[in-house]
Amino acid sequence: MSERKETILKQAAAYVCPNRVAMLGGLGIDLVLGRREGYRIWDIDGKELLDFHLNGGVYSLGHRHAELVAALRGALDTLDIGNHHFPSVQRSALGEALAGFTPGDLQYSVFASGGGEAVDIAIKSARHATGRRTIVSIHKGYHGHTGLALPAGDERFLKLFHSEPAPGDFVQVPFNDLDAMEAALAQHEAAAVLLETLPATYGFPLPDPGYLTGVRELCTRYGAMYIADEVQTGLGRTGARWGVDTYGVQPDILVTGKGLSGGLYPIAAAVLSPKAGAWLHEDGWGHVSTFGGAELGCVVASKVLEMLGRDEVAQHAQRVADTLGAGLDSLQQQYGDWLVEVRRCGLVIGLKFNDDFGGMLMSRALYDHGLWAMFAGLDTSVLQFKPGILLSYEDCALALERMEAAIRQCVSQRA
Ligand SMILES: Cc1ncc(COP(=O)(O)O)c(C=O)c1O
Repeated sequence: MSERKETILKQAAAYVCPNRVAMLGGLGIDLVLGRREGYRIWDIDGKELLDFHLNGGVYSLGHRHAELVAALRGALDTLDIGNHHFPSVQRSALGEALAGFTPGDLQYSVFASGGGEAVDIAIKSARHATGRRTIVSIHKGYHGHTGLALPAGDERFLKLFHSEPAPGDFVQVPFNDLDAMEAALAQHEAAAVLLETLPATYGFPLPDPGYLTGVRELCTRYGAMYIADEVQTGLGRTGARWGVDTYGVQPDILVTGKGLSGGLYPIAAAVLSPKAGAWLHEDGWGHVSTFGGAELGCVVASKVLEMLGRDEVAQHAQRVADTLGAGLDSLQQQYGDWLVEVRRCGLVIGLKFNDDFGGMLMSRALYDHGLWAMFAGLDTSVLQFKPGILLSYEDCALALERMEAAIRQCVSQRA
């Protein structure tokens, strides 16, 4: 390790994130990000890695995509973040584009600076629209660390800050269990069900056939809103524009973030149906966010939507998904004792290994072989494997080679 890197790691431990430095260092992962371009990242000491983590889809179109960088550079000539109190050319244009890009009657965009804040907006909107408080979500869900998103997710992060919610405000049921969902909705007058379409931090378990449409029906029957958290599953990653499109669900509220930023300027949004957005007619300052919907971010996000709307981009994403899917299936046939499950829906992929810490072991082994993919935080037996939408076929082949090398390493270490 270079002296420079050692100094930075010490500085990070002293001033920013001591536990992360210790924890990742303990796993043998000592990445300090330097150069980044397309689907490659380089450690400041020069180690090159294929990026199959993409910060959850932030870099779905690649790091520093030339068109996105040009859009941001152009915007910097005349714009800044704008003033969040006034209507804005860029915010209005993005709002209209999102209404066109999202399913059904979703209409109003309320902008945030991150996914958690956008989930908070979604929950507040559902509570206003229904006059109810309870939010039903699933065990091992993850929606961010802000005030309302936090208690909707796994309890791990609540306990640390003694932030347990009032009894009945947040109710959790097992994923893929429609009976439990119905029992919760029958017992509590719920404002909303909040669901990641494929729960990312839980390791992307696939919804059973009929599960999500079943939840939609239950929401309608019991008067609750359906909030789709599409922060990781939206923007072309499942093969459709949104994960809910793939599963045939029409939500009342859709939350987007991560990739909307193009990896260049933070932005997220809750997109609301007219009913969910009723509060916007009542109090124009009902939600205020100085940086939410910053004009520079709106310019980049509009370009992201325009790129994702191109036929050739969608077709390429499909081919990447097919190529990697076929490769992973064949690896599973070969190494089925270790790679026990390939969960995939387009480019949303979770790989389950035959060890409680299998995803972690694979993260480390792949790191050694030049690919960065991260284990699922709430199920460490699973590796999240997140390929970019514009990945080249050469890089698909390279990624599969590195995956096989990492699998072999883990298998031989276990023997
Ligand atoms: C599904 C999901 N929802 C919400 C969030 C929160 O987004 P942010 O970190 O931008 O607040 C995340 C972040 O990883 C996420 O994966």
